[in-house]
Amino acid sequence: MCGIVGYIGSKEKKSVIIGGLKELEYRGYDSAGMAIMSGECCSDIHYFKAVGKLENLSNKMSDFSSEGFGVAIGHTRWATHGKPTEINAHPHLGEYSFVIHNGIIENYKELKDELESQGVKFISQTDTEVIVHLFERYNKTAKSPFEAYKQTIARLRGAYATLLITKAAYGEVFFAKNAAPLIVAKNGDEIYFSSSDASLIGLGKEAMYLEDGVIGHAKLGAIEIFDKNLKALQLSFTELPKDKGYAQKDGYRFFMEKEIYEQSQVISECLMGRVKDDNVNLEVSDDVFDGIDEVVLCACGTSYHAAITASYLFERIAKIRAKVEIASEFRYKEPLLKPNSLFIVISQSGETADTLEALKIAKEHGLKTMAICNVDNSSIVRLAGEVMLTRAGIEKGVASTKAFATQVICLWLLSLKLAKLRNVIDEKTMLNELKALRNIPSVVHFDPKLQERIYRLAKHYLHGHGFFFIGRDIFYPLALEGALKLKEISYLHAEGYPAGEMKHGPIALADDGLYTIALLPSTLLYEKTKSNVEELAARDANITAISPVAFELSDDFIQTNTYEHPMSEFFEMMIVLQLFALEISIRLGNDVDMPRNLAKSVTVE
Ligand code: G6P
Repeated sequence: MCGIVGYIGSKEKKSVIIGGLKELEYRGYDSAGMAIMSGECCSDIHYFKAVGKLENLSNKMSDFSSEGFGVAIGHTRWATHGKPTEINAHPHLGEYSFVIHNGIIENYKELKDELESQGVKFISQTDTEVIVHLFERYNKTAKSPFEAYKQTIARLRGAYATLLITKAAYGEVFFAKNAAPLIVAKNGDEIYFSSSDASLIGLGKEAMYLEDGVIGHAKLGAIEIFDKNLKALQLSFTELPKDKGYAQKDGYRFFMEKEIYEQSQVISECLMGRVKDDNVNLEVSDDVFDGIDEVVLCACGTSYHAAITASYLFERIAKIRAKVEIASEFRYKEPLLKPNSLFIVISQSGETADTLEALKIAKEHGLKTMAICNVDNSSIVRLAGEVMLTRAGIEKGVASTKAFATQVICLWLLSLKLAKLRNVIDEKTMLNELKALRNIPSVVHFDPKLQERIYRLAKHYLHGHGFFFIGRDIFYPLALEGALKLKEISYLHAEGYPAGEMKHGPIALADDGLYTIALLPSTLLYEKTKSNVEELAARDANITAISPVAFELSDDFIQTNTYEHPMSEFFEMMIVLQLFALEISIRLGNDVDMPRNLAKSVTVE
């Protein structure tokens, strides 16, 4: 959700900023911009903005270069306040200062009214612009520009990761962070800023992940950071990985496609060391499960679908009550939390604002907490009591694939661990589960012929008035996930439904323009689901059956392998659904990796 980068040093600044933004573009891509302060004299600040993808900004700057020492800030936007226009693109400017920001300033209206009443003219519709005008107002009387910046930040309520440069402080970057990610990194005297370490790899040597409420300023070779009470903080840097190679497309057309293919490898990595000697061996302390009689799973989007899947596993395998909460709903419902609940948040990015807030609420209530997360050092990881990292590697496609797969694996492992601790699983069942788990990397290692088959079928689905993805039990959340994938990247209307619910309303939509994607695993409720699908076929809906068993009423049939364990069928069908969405999106000519209106990491509520 908006990406920000900054640089202080003598490299060619345009390239550093564009390179950094390229890595963050998945966070938002409505528009982009940068401001560069360089040259001998502080009067030189150049700025550029462009609507749409980053390449538009890059093209606009083709004749510009900035050699020699200087500072630069850049931003890629996901609009919250104001349309994605050039005026609303960051950086926002005052008379002599420039600001970029990720987050939402909740009291911006009040600040804007105050500034307008003092004669300040606003040109954008954004909340961000108040920051730069407030700063310039305070700078008229403050002892120093940084003092003015402190007074500015003290007025803001809401979420922000923000960088400001000003002619009043040549060669410096002022920065502040609250409830949105911000990292400062260094390499010798050079200093870098970013919303994510992905854009720092290969540039910075060590990084400091800033905590909420901090404010600071940096110039070549010098960084000062203060906590929310303005007490100076000790700088504490950790080494950054050196290898950027893992975040490239490796010959695939899209990151999403590459990430679908990577699932076998990342699931193996996710299992590594966690299944040992016919037992589950997790890095979380056993104490966290002590006295627990309920698990609450909380997440958004795809991670929410992993949570629903897990709720079946926890109840069936660990015989423990499992409740699922959508994080955005949880925050304001005045939830009744029981001390004996284990609160598990699930998040790919570890920065999703709603999930992070839900975690804070659970902690405030004194609950034991755990995060299933893909990004080490993210806000959620730092806050949670216990953490299981999904080890999926950087996921760049906005539509999540490998992160989902590894989340489900982690949660399955957790349910087994809990079953063992609660003494509700016999040895034979445990061995059977572990055998199935170990086999998942080969289940998701699919033959490219499957993709070829789905590519050919995809042409049948470019029109029609909607899709129902249906399944039962764990195949219901998988149906939800299949529908979400299709919605996200093909922009076709799709809903996931429990197959047994169709007759309670949705079946009214059945006709020859309605596509039903039916998940018919042979190991779980096959006959029941089949009857539900037959009811739809009888009303002339188009049926696509995904099953190991031929289904004579289907219009299209995608045959899966026969397995003994439902989770094996789950993971193979997951691949089918991911490829299904991918191939339809490609045929429709959409931008698979950066679908319209979306962002990978949603750091606003
Ligand atoms: C956004 C993304 C989704 C993702 C959701 C939750 O909406 O577009 O793909 O599932 O956020 O993100 P998280 O990082 O918390 O898993």
